[in-house]
Amino acid sequence: MTMAGFAGHVVRWQREHGRHQLPWQNTRDPYRVWLSEIMLQQTQVSAVLGYYDRFLQRFPDVAALAAATLDDVLALWGGLGYYSRARNLHRCAQEVMQRFGGAFPRTAAELVTLPGIGRSTAAAIASFCFGERAAILDGNVKRVLTRVLAFEADLASAANERILWDHAEALLPKRDLQEAMPRYTQGLMDLGATLCLPRNPSCLLCPLQGLCAAAREGRQAEFPRKTRK
Ligand code: ADE
Ligand code: SF4
Repeated sequence: MTMAGFAGHVVRWQREHGRHQLPWQNTRDPYRVWLSEIMLQQTQVSAVLGYYDRFLQRFPDVAALAAATLDDVLALWGGLGYYSRARNLHRCAQEVMQRFGGAFPRTAAELVTLPGIGRSTAAAIASFCFGERAAILDGNVKRVLTRVLAFEADLASAANERILWDHAEALLPKRDLQEAMPRYTQGLMDLGATLCLPRNPSCLLCPLQGLCAAAREGRQAEFPRKTRK
């Protein structure tokens, strides 16, 4: 099965049917995008919205966040849970000041060296803000890709997860990256959040239906495959 057209379908669908009014969209400010991605790592959009606005009011830029005390950061984080995220957030702001003179680095390879920024978060920031051709692979995107590819291998294995990363990179847009990459990254997130749901995915509305092996075979519920470790 060829995946020709995959990226274009995602990009066009995002333009027509994706989410466009989330408060961290319509900006290429890496501070704002980074803050949103960290908050969204383990928390739903609806729960993040209020925290995100309060955080930006109190800490409008990375210098303000770096200068705050950890207690101030934790107080504003309170309720979002997973407090290691808040500690890493504060440390990351301080490293951006000390190592990068207050400007977030512009490549995923450098972003991933900062506290709390893993491979997928680094790629999200680099693609949204700088148009870098970098693949994300969060839980929602794993669901979309394993279904489209009918990827049978068990994601409890690190070797199999690496193979899925290789597929994610092979599917990236190849042209017009400055325009296409932010849309593509957001489009994959939006598909996973709105159509390609864990149960009863809306395949009839999906731009990938014609390419999707799981939909063709009626096997959507079998992917992603992940046993307990
Ligand atoms: N989850 C993680 N990143 C997101 C984004 N940019 N928009 C919506 N949900 C997300
Ligand atoms: Fe997911 Fe269905 Fe779209 Fe396949 S066709 S990617 S299973 S929503």
